Order: sequence, then structure tokens, then C-alpha cells
Amino acid sequence: MRILAIETSCDETAVCVLEADGEFGSGFSYKILGNALFSQAEKHAEFGGVFPNLAKREHEKNLVPIMRAALGEAGLLKNGVSDASGLAAVLEREKELLAQLQDFLGSHAKPDIDYIAVTHGPGLEPALWVGVNFACALAAAWQLPIVAVNHMEGHIVVAALAQPKPIEFPALSLLVSGGHTELVLSREWLQYEMLGSTRDDAAGEAFDKSARLLGLPYPGGPEISRLAAEARKYGGSTSLSLPRPMIDSNDFDFSFSGLKTAVRRAIEGKELSAAEKAAMAREVEEAIVEVLVTKTIRAAEEYGARTIICGGGVSASVYLRAELSRKASPYAIKPLFPPRELSTDNAIMIGLAGYFHALKNEYADPAMMAAQGNLKLA
Ligand code: KG4
Ligand code: ZN
Repeated sequence: MRILAIETSCDETAVCVLEADGEFGSGFSYKILGNALFSQAEKHAEFGGVFPNLAKREHEKNLVPIMRAALGEAGLLKNGVSDASGLAAVLEREKELLAQLQDFLGSHAKPDIDYIAVTHGPGLEPALWVGVNFACALAAAWQLPIVAVNHMEGHIVVAALAQPKPIEFPALSLLVSGGHTELVLSREWLQYEMLGSTRDDAAGEAFDKSARLLGLPYPGGPEISRLAAEARKYGGSTSLSLPRPMIDSNDFDFSFSGLKTAVRRAIEGKELSAAEKAAMAREVEEAIVEVLVTKTIRAAEEYGARTIICGGGVSASVYLRAELSRKASPYAIKPLFPPRELSTDNAIMIGLAGYFHALKNEYADPAMMAAQGNLKLA
């Protein structure tokens, strides 16, 4: 099956073409034929976080060129004409996208793909709508079915496929991104029970907000991780210790909003040297990771997990990977992580999750498609 996948839930505009075959656990394989991604991070940097309407405008501007690049890499750009007659109604609120797509379809025939997978939630609703409407417009022009994909499921699936052999259930997923921190149990493939989630800030948000207080650019997660690694290498630690919020609570929920307040208090009125800043970054990363790992291991124990999966942007943290692996090893579990470049948002994870839903004939009705900012896994 050949899938065109689209992701616009946050500040990455991403499109890919995947070729996938086989069932999960039985001969599954896939190939990335084409992949293109434009990160808007720099544009949002001045706001210190993602600004939803700017994200929407950027997706509108970038989707057609990004799709053209992905199809081009896959060798699927075909001269000809596609039927663009119904587009105006679908893209009535995305005028710039409409004009670009009409132009593209006026000189390109339908590419050789079987269906379209698109993120319909969770995420920033204005941003999600652009991707959803774009997918509906393409589906109408090319007479293709659509699969609506949950973004968080994409993060799980791309991590679960990190090993070639089928995973064993129950599988516990730790999802850590800019908007979510969740512990999710799967007793079978594509089935989810929510064990706990954050009551306020997500783990990625805690990284980003702490980074901002330390004067580091957005997105702050990679910056904190980089400085923390330097501090570890050169032995820099700080006498200021941050709290480990809810680490001993009798549930699987998280709370990270207190961390930024603690960081603010710790550095208020101080002119930090580079070494002190790195030491503080180290403490931020270690506080967040200690809470995440402790609760994940406790949940794995309580639910008898035989697999641990970790996905979402924060799973790019080398320190989180090392700590989770270290703490899981007494249970003979080797946690699964996505390839590092697929930890943060991308279209490949959306195509993969979409493929497994298409195998179950779970297609969306374009007339009923809607962006769902608060879409839940369970
Ligand atoms: O999954 P993702 O790309 O987007 C959302 O779905 O939100 O996650 C983005 C988050 C940001 O908060 C970013 O700072 C964080 O992931 N992040 C990291 C690292 N790389 C990205 N956090 C810690 N260490 C990293 N290396
Ligand atoms: Zn994400």
C-alpha cells in the first residue's frame, strides 16, 4: 500500500509517502519513498512558544511545496491535470492554500497512491484544520480514501516499530511531548487505557518554559538537554535542587507547572555564569526525567508490562533514554524508542499509524471530518 501522510498538529508542516506491507507482527515492512518537513520553530521563537494562528498561516503557505517535495522525492510527480472543481468549497477558509493547490492540480495528474492519512487531533485546532481540509481536498480531487490519525498514536506506533520482532503485551507507553504527558496501557495492538496524565504543564512544556527562564531559545527541550549533557561531562552540578513533583503520589498522574516556578525562584535576581546555567539545565532535565522514569517503572510493575514504549518529542532526550533503559533492565525490559529523528513531530509516524487502521478498514467519512484539538487515545 502506498500512503500519502500529512501532519500539521503543531508547528511542523510535514508530508511523506510511505510504502507499507504486511500485518503487525507478521511480515510488516515499510519504506519511506519521500519525506519533507518544514519546522516553523524559528518563526514562533519570538513568542516563546507556538502561536496557533501563525502556525495555521504557515501550514497554509507551506503544505503544497512540502507535498510537492515529498512526491518529487518519491518519483510520483506526474504531468497532467487533476480535477480541481470541488476544491473551493473544501478550502473556503484557506484561500492561499486553495490558490496554490489549484495551481498544482492544474499541472499534475493523480499520483500513484492508495490513500491519505492525516492527523485530526490532538493539537492546535487552527493548525489541525489546515491539514484536515487539505487532505479532504486531495481526497476529492484524486478520489482517494482518508484515514484520520490520532497524533499520539503516531508517536506510539513509530516507537513500537523500532524493533523488528512483534512486541509483547501488555505494553506500557510513556508519551512525552510539548502538549502531552501520558502513561497509556495497551493489552493489544491499537487498544489503549489511560493510566495517568499531566494535571497541568506537559513534560515538554516544562523543558520549554524552564529554558525560557534561562534565556535559551525555543524549543527549549533540545537546548536544556544539550547544556545538561555538557554539565554532566564537565562535572557541573548545582547546589540548588528542584522538586520532583508528585513522584510519590499514589497514582500515575504528573504535574510539572511547579517546576518553572522553582526555576524562577532559584535564579531570580542572579546573573548566572555559563557553567551555572548548564548546571541548572542539568537539574531541570534530571528532575523531569526522574519523575517520568519512576512513575513509568511503577506502572510497569503494577500492570505487569512486558514492553515499555517511549515516544513524543521529549523522547529525543538521550538522558531520558539512558535512564529509562537503566531502570527497566532489572525487569528484563529494553524500552523501545523511535529513531531519534522521528521522536519529534513528523509525517512518517502518521502514515504508519494510518496504515494499521486502513488494514482494519477504518476509513474516515470526509463529510464528517473535523479537527479535534482534545482528541483522546482512550
Ligand atoms: O512531539 P513533539 O515534537 O510535538 C508535540 O506533539 O508537542 O514534542 C515537542 C516537545 C517540545 O516541548 C520540545 O522542547 C521537546 O519536545 N523536545 C525535547 C528534546 N527534543 C524536543 N525535550 C527534551 N530533550 C530533547 N532532546
Ligand atoms: Zn507530537
